[in-house]
Amino acid sequence: MMIVSSLDELKEARRLLDGMVGLVPTMGYLHEGHLSLIRRAREECDHVAVSIFVNPTQFGANEDLSKYPRDLERDLRLIDPLGVDLVWNPTPEIMYPAGYQTWVEVEALTRSLEGAMRPSHFKGVTTIVAKLFNAMQPHKAYFGQKDAQQAAVIRQMVRDLNFPIEMIVCPTVREPDGLAMSSRNKYLEGDDRRAATVLFRALSAAKFAYENGERNAETLRTVMKSVLATEPKASPQYVSCADYDTLEELDVVKGKSLLSMAVLIGKTRLIDNFVLK
Ligand code: PAJ
Repeated sequence: MMIVSSLDELKEARRLLDGMVGLVPTMGYLHEGHLSLIRRAREECDHVAVSIFVNPTQFGANEDLSKYPRDLERDLRLIDPLGVDLVWNPTPEIMYPAGYQTWVEVEALTRSLEGAMRPSHFKGVTTIVAKLFNAMQPHKAYFGQKDAQQAAVIRQMVRDLNFPIEMIVCPTVREPDGLAMSSRNKYLEGDDRRAATVLFRALSAAKFAYENGERNAETLRTVMKSVLATEPKASPQYVSCADYDTLEELDVVKGKSLLSMAVLIGKTRLIDNFVLK
């Protein structure tokens, strides 16, 4: 497994990878969700590259950049048995040298949901992912359904900027009690960990209603809100039932749709979603 940091080292290492290259972009502190993307890439590609970079430009001023969990040694131990060929772990100075001034921005898709709560978050995400794509030149790139809006925004960027890359979106990996795996789950202490299952319970209740014929989107949002209201530690930031492609709120569910939410559990902000097909 080649482990590189600088752009020159990356260029040299990338040259050694013949055939189909799959990239899994991450911010590290890896868990089973990340590892599932790496395994999928391993199955589908000749070579697998993983980037590990906590991207400062996608964190807001009041967000957890300095607190974001990091442990490169642990990440490398987890990756090692999976047959990864190349790990790229650049520094912020390599990705954003002094004088940096170019940004990639997707418009309409970034205005709702996470984009409304976290202004400039997706500008940071699309900029870094475009830079990772340009430097790594993968044929396929693997993302998680867990971050549904991120996947939709990157898909739009790939289409709009003609990146010759196939995007693969993989299912959300969950703990046995339904909590979606996330590097931020580490912050859930004591009773917050139990309370955090309320996102999965709220989404499950709305999916159950949908499977029993409910098609009124406002009713589905109300179902989710009423389950969230049973948990005193939960403060919902948004609860959505939107079109899967445009992410616009629906009146009536028809076609592929997305149930999604952001909820504060104590001080920890969690997001989760289900796809309705
Ligand atoms: P990070 O949060 O580290 O996630 C890296 C990838 O893992 C993303 O595609 C995310 O959707 C996926 N992932 C996270 N939790 C998952 C789960 N429980 N099941 C399946 N996949 C999961 O997302 C980012 O980093 C960054 O925004 C990045 C794209 C790397 C750009 O900086």
